[in-house]
Amino acid sequence: MKEISRRGFAGSLLAGAVGAALDTSSLRTAVKTESVTAGRAAISARWQPHLPGIWKAQIGVPEQSTPVSLRAIGPSQDKLASMHSVSAPPLMDVEGCSTTRGVEIMLPLAAGELVYGFGLQMYSVMHRGSKKTLRVNADPKGDSGDAHAPVPFYVTTHGYGVLIDTARYASFSCGSTRLHKNHRAQDEPAAYTEAPPLAQFDEAATMRVEIPNAKGVDIYLFAGPTMREAVERYNLFSGGGVNPPEWGLGFWYRCYLNSNTEQLLALAREFRDRKIPCDVLGLEPGWQTHAYACSFLWDPKKFSNPPAMVSSLKQMDYQLNLWEHAYTHATAPNYHALEPYSGDYEVFGGLVPDFNIPQARRIFGDHQSSAFLDLGISGFKLDECDNSDYTGGWAFPEFSRFPSGLDGEQMHSVFGLRYQDVILEAFNRANRPTYGLVRSSGALAAPYPFVLYSDLYDHRVFIRAVINSGFTGLLFCPEVRDAESVEDLIRRMQSVVFSPLAMVNGWYVQNPPWKQVHASWETFHEREQNPGNFDEGWEKVEAQCREVLGWRMQLVPYLRASFAKYASHGTPPFRALIMDWPNDPNLALVEDEYLVGDRMLVAPVFAKQTSREVVLPRGAWCDYWTGEAVEGGRKFKVQTPLDRIPVYVKSGSVFAVAEPGASARSPESRRLTVRVYGDGSIPFVIREQGKTAMEISWNNQTGKGSFSPGKPSGAPYTIVDWKKMGS
Ligand code: GAL
Repeated sequence: MKEISRRGFAGSLLAGAVGAALDTSSLRTAVKTESVTAGRAAISARWQPHLPGIWKAQIGVPEQSTPVSLRAIGPSQDKLASMHSVSAPPLMDVEGCSTTRGVEIMLPLAAGELVYGFGLQMYSVMHRGSKKTLRVNADPKGDSGDAHAPVPFYVTTHGYGVLIDTARYASFSCGSTRLHKNHRAQDEPAAYTEAPPLAQFDEAATMRVEIPNAKGVDIYLFAGPTMREAVERYNLFSGGGVNPPEWGLGFWYRCYLNSNTEQLLALAREFRDRKIPCDVLGLEPGWQTHAYACSFLWDPKKFSNPPAMVSSLKQMDYQLNLWEHAYTHATAPNYHALEPYSGDYEVFGGLVPDFNIPQARRIFGDHQSSAFLDLGISGFKLDECDNSDYTGGWAFPEFSRFPSGLDGEQMHSVFGLRYQDVILEAFNRANRPTYGLVRSSGALAAPYPFVLYSDLYDHRVFIRAVINSGFTGLLFCPEVRDAESVEDLIRRMQSVVFSPLAMVNGWYVQNPPWKQVHASWETFHEREQNPGNFDEGWEKVEAQCREVLGWRMQLVPYLRASFAKYASHGTPPFRALIMDWPNDPNLALVEDEYLVGDRMLVAPVFAKQTSREVVLPRGAWCDYWTGEAVEGGRKFKVQTPLDRIPVYVKSGSVFAVAEPGASARSPESRRLTVRVYGDGSIPFVIREQGKTAMEISWNNQTGKGSFSPGKPSGAPYTIVDWKKMGS
């Protein structure tokens, strides 16, 4: 199958090498890479058809353990086959070479071609002209490529994506290198003049990828023809996007870490009494007898009767989520059974199970099932799986060895995903859905019901992470903890409700943040120690938060529609504007606006902003709140009073909003008001398992809603009102 040819110095990417059978007219990025291998022995590989619209090339001898070889979920072959076919690979042959450092790959970048992706990057969205070294790290403090969830996949504005199938800390020089012999005097930028941001990419360049410690690598190429379709193909290759249970789309609250049963139930009742919608409560480390490392045993002093507690929560329609990490303490019931299947270094004095080994997955998962799933726990927050190198050795070293043959570097790249596998397999065995949190992930993550989060807390960084997550099949929660001011709290709440998981993480505050907002407390330890004196006027802040949480509850049907499309088509429910308008240079660098689903654009506001610039893609839009028509294809300034953030929907949208209730499955949430924006020509559709479960349309002053019996899953919806917006 594979065809690898060895060429001498400076082999080039010539069309003839592709073969006469291919339609070379579609080789749109047929530019020559910089004098390809600079004196090293070059290896050239042809793209071989792999799956519809996906090609594979092999350079050298790939390693055994890679994201693709270790994957637990296969590609969605049927769905890939139903995408429109592409006859030829969108790139010319790929060049590489083997060095004492590892393997290098050279791929072309055309003039003006912009690069996106690489996982949960937090400091830039567009990567052309920069270098990213993809290392899993819990403290990504700069724009180096370090990330909770780095992914060796990039996609370009020329409508294709590339996955380098490696678990190594690969580095990508995205047109940022320049070979000495290519240098010409006129390439020098004029001294001290500022180039327009994108003009510097007006020349062809090379994407150089270096994979350390490897003798070869497989490369996968995903055709578009559009940028969004390339991402969709990558997501379907990963197994299709996740479709979370409905309760996962409501509001989540994680309780103070030392909460006990009484405090948890008191909070649960308080939310119901005070009409704070909430679906999921989370317990933080204090629920266990030993948390760093984990014993996976309830602390009997705080939780004397977990079954009774879970059942009280169920009666109030709450799900319960448990914090944990994988490092297993000597008192854990499965410690000895796991020992032979663990790495040779400890973390927090606990075992690091090797989840690449089925026995380890089963031993770990069985305890989760019998101790927690059987009790009715709805999911887990999988903490600390992201190489906390800078937190005082909270990680296994790169030179660790694991029984499956992986070293520590490779294990870091897949640890988060394999941990997700263990939990997902346990829920699959119980035939129950889950939706949870995880602090590390990687390549091929789209089908996993886990949302990433971070201990970094900058609001803008969080929004960038939401935007970037959509290029590589990830989801990110810009969680709210405490805040510098009421304004900061409200602004963060307004963002998190337009995200994949709407959560307040109160793990170090004894009361919900709307009761305690103190700019004067410098550290979270000061906040944690506060016994619970509420701020004066907290009810007003609570009312503001209740209002914003209501927006979330209204949005649940739309989020269901958006996630259903993620599952069926691989379309990321949260994504950058550039993905849908790759030819619009005004959108190339946007880091503070994003799309939700197929018709909504959200422009978050940050504390201290009284106005902001909005860039609206071309087309006709409407203000989501008022229905007022807004012309796209331009930038403009909007005032940003504290009670709103700019949100727009495509003109023509039919938009079903639910009545806010106590939870996403409450009777209220079944009552829909249908908003009609513009001419109402874009129906509101939820498709589940290949069938239309709900379709609401508007035609000349008349609305029509059809719901398949029993669909979408859950109690049936009714339409209680139609609102022609803006009139
Ligand atoms: C951190 C985590 C926080 C919280 C805390 C508890 O690692 O990111 O969300 O769970 O641990 O110790």
